[in-house]
Amino acid sequence: MTDAKPIISIRNVTKRFGSVVAVDNVSIDIRPGEFFALLGPSGCGKTTLLRMLAGFETTSEGEIEIDGQPMFGVSPNKRPVNMVFQSYAVFPHMTVFDNVAYGLKVTGVPKNEITGQVNEALSLVHLEDYGRRKPDQLSGGQRQRVALARALVKKPKVLLLDEPLSALDAKLREAMRLELVRLQHSVGITFIIVTHDQDEALSMADRAAVMDRGVVRQIAPPGELYEHPNGRFVADFIGKVNMLEAKVAGQSGGELVVEVNGMGRIVVPHDGAAAGDIGIAVRPEKTILSADKPGGDVVALKGKVCDVAYYGNESHILLDTDTGVQFTSTVQNDARRVESSVVIGDNLWISWAPGNTLVLAE
Ligand SMILES: Nc1ncnc2c1ncn2[C@@H]1O[C@H](COP(=O)(O)OP(=O)(O)O)[C@@H](O)[C@H]1O
Ligand SMILES: [Mg+2]
Repeated sequence: MTDAKPIISIRNVTKRFGSVVAVDNVSIDIRPGEFFALLGPSGCGKTTLLRMLAGFETTSEGEIEIDGQPMFGVSPNKRPVNMVFQSYAVFPHMTVFDNVAYGLKVTGVPKNEITGQVNEALSLVHLEDYGRRKPDQLSGGQRQRVALARALVKKPKVLLLDEPLSALDAKLREAMRLELVRLQHSVGITFIIVTHDQDEALSMADRAAVMDRGVVRQIAPPGELYEHPNGRFVADFIGKVNMLEAKVAGQSGGELVVEVNGMGRIVVPHDGAAAGDIGIAVRPEKTILSADKPGGDVVALKGKVCDVAYYGNESHILLDTDTGVQFTSTVQNDARRVESSVVIGDNLWISWAPGNTLVLAE
């Protein structure tokens, strides 16, 4: 972690549309060169926050600084940022070259400099041979790259991307994730991407802010969000989770004693403070299924298999557990076998190491 001054500093920013609070007292510092994601379900305020950074929306309260400058009253074209929109608008009647050159022409960049800058931007997105084409002669992925080149040619300090991959099909979306990361490394500027797709955020971002109804729930690197979610919302939104409600019964020496609904007392390692009602959770891939009651220091529940979902590489086994809550266990299909060894109706134990228990305070 560097102690470099943030390139973007969002301080206690709120945005109201009439009675709707779209963004609610959000504070985020983003470092220069970071690939940062705003992640959350539809309607949680991601686009509104991005539009306030770009200057397309005013803030109702709070301050935004970009590169050390307060942005209050600064118009979009005076900000050192550029935005790639969700519906990546390219001009259909212009060639790829002219699309990219357009932004330079309107700001009065001399003609002899334009060609070089446009070619440089096109080569960044691997479209150097496509300058003469029209957008309708391009694939969806190529049109998206034109939109990226158009934004990059202005040499912004920060690139803002609103769901940039949402219009692409699944395979292309995955390929473009790698492209965007590569592109960000090669230009070295800060990227802020908005997405509702947790896989997208986890696979690309250095850090992500998880948003819920206008509020930021947690800001952390992907691994931290997945393995140490700070509450029920983040645990549930990032990946799959099995969750039980519980009450803290005691805490000492890095261990938490919890009374779990429908299960009784369990002891799990936990360093932070915890009190009152909490959630106790475990990721499906961190559980083990067994016919016999597992021995040793594990948390174990009895259950009956109610569904087996086959995904090729893995299967998801759903169990009705004794607690009344359904649990999922993920099983890697690591041998070539067509028939599942687990079938609906099997009585099994599902267990996990205490250290794999997530303690969810919020
Ligand atoms: N111009 C607007 N006028 C009124 N309400 C708006 C406007 N823009 C967004 N909202 C509301 O603000 C909330 C957040 O919207 P948005 O930022 O688009 O969410 P997201 O991008 O996360 O899907 C939603 O409830 C939305 O309906
Ligand atoms: Mg949006």
